[in-house]
Amino acid sequence: MGRMRVRPSGPLGGRVRVGGAKNSALKLMAATVLAPGTSTLWNVPAISDVEWMADVLRALGVEVTPEGGGKLTVNAGGDITPEAPYELVERMRASTALIGPLLARCGEAHVAMPGGDDFGSRPIDLHLSGLEVLGATFELAHGTIHGRAERLVGGRVVLEYPSVGATETVMLAATLAEGVTAIENAAREPEIADLGAFLNRMGAKVTGAGSPTVRVEGVAELRPASHEVIPDRIEAATFIAAVGIAGGEVVVEGARHEHMAQLVRKFGEMGMRISPERDGLWVMARDRLQPISVATLPYPGVATDYLPLVMPLLAVADGTSFATENLFGGRFRYLGELARMGARIEVEGHHVVVEGVEWLSGAPVRAFDIRAGAGMVVAGLRAEGETFVHDSEHLDRGYEDFVGRLVSIGADVESLDD
Ligand code: UD1
Repeated sequence: MGRMRVRPSGPLGGRVRVGGAKNSALKLMAATVLAPGTSTLWNVPAISDVEWMADVLRALGVEVTPEGGGKLTVNAGGDITPEAPYELVERMRASTALIGPLLARCGEAHVAMPGGDDFGSRPIDLHLSGLEVLGATFELAHGTIHGRAERLVGGRVVLEYPSVGATETVMLAATLAEGVTAIENAAREPEIADLGAFLNRMGAKVTGAGSPTVRVEGVAELRPASHEVIPDRIEAATFIAAVGIAGGEVVVEGARHEHMAQLVRKFGEMGMRISPERDGLWVMARDRLQPISVATLPYPGVATDYLPLVMPLLAVADGTSFATENLFGGRFRYLGELARMGARIEVEGHHVVVEGVEWLSGAPVRAFDIRAGAGMVVAGLRAEGETFVHDSEHLDRGYEDFVGRLVSIGADVESLDD
């Protein structure tokens, strides 16, 4: 179990680089299973979610080699066992991204059904019903989803909700299906566009990835490819939030304005100044933050993953803010931790009213998941005394050298090994 100590900090200054997007890298790793041979991914973050996805791939018979410097080679040339056991899926929820590639390559997929998590219940019904349109059948037995498809045939998949995972699952399977698949009401996140770009490098025929309608023309086979992962917009948001709460002037290198325009607008409403630079975003915060209203929505809206990072800023803003979480019902557990730090928060269903206080008060708190944990660290930057973030190993799932990079811009943060 990890623990981090955070002390009041700021003004922050300097430059900090964001790594490759976790939520893209994991799906690109899953996609490599579609092509026999060795694919190379670049800008892959050294985080535990990537290591765990590598373990899941190895369990299938895929060779995964981290080469250092963000380079990862994946050799899916050997025989593939289409089976991802519970021990691995439970740890690595994104393993569900393998259902599509396994069905397409092997005609079957046996993947333990993921349970709920700190976001609440996380169904995969839309993934499965999308694949059923392509001809797959599913059976749930003893906690494992058994999928079969002698052949996959393209079809029209209309998603009831623009689910990121379901869009990716159907895209992945459709690349090797016979005929054309149209995914309507598709999720539009930049990570989906990144997956589409990688699949096309592998010889797939995907158009519209990143728009509400994705079209995939099936091909007979895919070949290994090389691809650089897009920068992590949520990590970028984390550093911007740190500057917002602690004050200062920082260049967040690699951050792409076009991937986070709505959030940047919200930070602007709070009084921060943010402008695009050649390779990143220049971020400045000087005065006490202003309160705002914010609601999470599918892309291009404000992402649900940003809210735990923004919430500490609302907690110290000069007035009353309103926040609504529209994606994951169970994603508010961390608010109790923030309240322990003196935040004045009222929760009503999926709405939150935050009465800003001038300073938070350092306390021992828990990191429930990656972003909630990062939010606690952000909060600690403007909390009198010391904040101890327990279970900080969650942060290693999504951030490479989080402490080191925060320290490099002047934050008083330390990892305590105990
Ligand atoms: C991905 C991200 C996660 C992010 C989320 C939304 C990864 C590894 N994770 O998760 O960090 O918070 O996008 O941007 O990429 N739903 C169903 N049935 C389904 C699938 C989803 O009801 O079959 C619901 C979910 O419960 C949730 C909503 O749809 O309420 C959004 O989920 P989805 O977009 O699928 O998120 P994930 O792909 O799981």
